[in-house]
Amino acid sequence: MAVNVIAIDGPAASGKSTIAGLVAERLGVPYINTGNMYRAVTFYAIQQGLNLAACSEEKLSPVLEHIKLDYVKAASGQYEIKLNGEFPGAEIRSPEVVSLVSLVAALPNVRTWLIDKQREFARLGRIVMEGRDIGTVIFPDAQYKFFLTATPEERARRRLAQDGEAPDGATVESVAKAIAERDLLDSTRKTAPLKKADDAILIDTSGMSIEQVIEHILRYIK
Ligand code: DC
Repeated sequence: MAVNVIAIDGPAASGKSTIAGLVAERLGVPYINTGNMYRAVTFYAIQQGLNLAACSEEKLSPVLEHIKLDYVKAASGQYEIKLNGEFPGAEIRSPEVVSLVSLVAALPNVRTWLIDKQREFARLGRIVMEGRDIGTVIFPDAQYKFFLTATPEERARRRLAQDGEAPDGATVESVAKAIAERDLLDSTRKTAPLKKADDAILIDTSGMSIEQVIEHILRYIK
């Protein structure tokens, strides 16, 4: 039987987080952003002084032993990530984390460590879960699967409009190039690459408003 999950996958800055959060709000169900888990691990490793530009499974293994990740219902009513008992907030969205997180997310031991944590959320009943491999690896039997995309330029414009995620002095061209590099890392890694599930509904959000994308998704959901 299909698991009661609405999986929303897609590349960086494709609008997934905004859309997934709003779809969950309209449906009155929890929204789980799995990218924040990879960001929290990356942030913690940076804090521990690890040189992530040369990271490896061996280096990350002892770090994982000291990380406790929880998703708790915050005052906002939304589920928010806690890293070792504290809300990391905007720190996991810093340009430094953004530039290193793909390297950490490519490590098989990091992904394995997160798989069970992500699958556990199914106990909450219907959820919207967003990431790169939700429809392919975490919940291949999800009831609904969507894969959102947009042109690199459109995604660069969205990233620039997002507070704090792009370095100072960034342009649409430089951000589009960085996004393309991250797509390449995410989609060519050996473990759980960014990939549309065969049975996912593809939505190219270029030129669509947020409301149009939400309505499009909600039309499928009973
Ligand atoms: O969606 P995001 O930008 O917050 O994701 C941060 C990074 O984590 C990105 O490099 C892709 C990776 N990621 C992943 O590999 N698998 C997921 N399910 C979610 C994110």
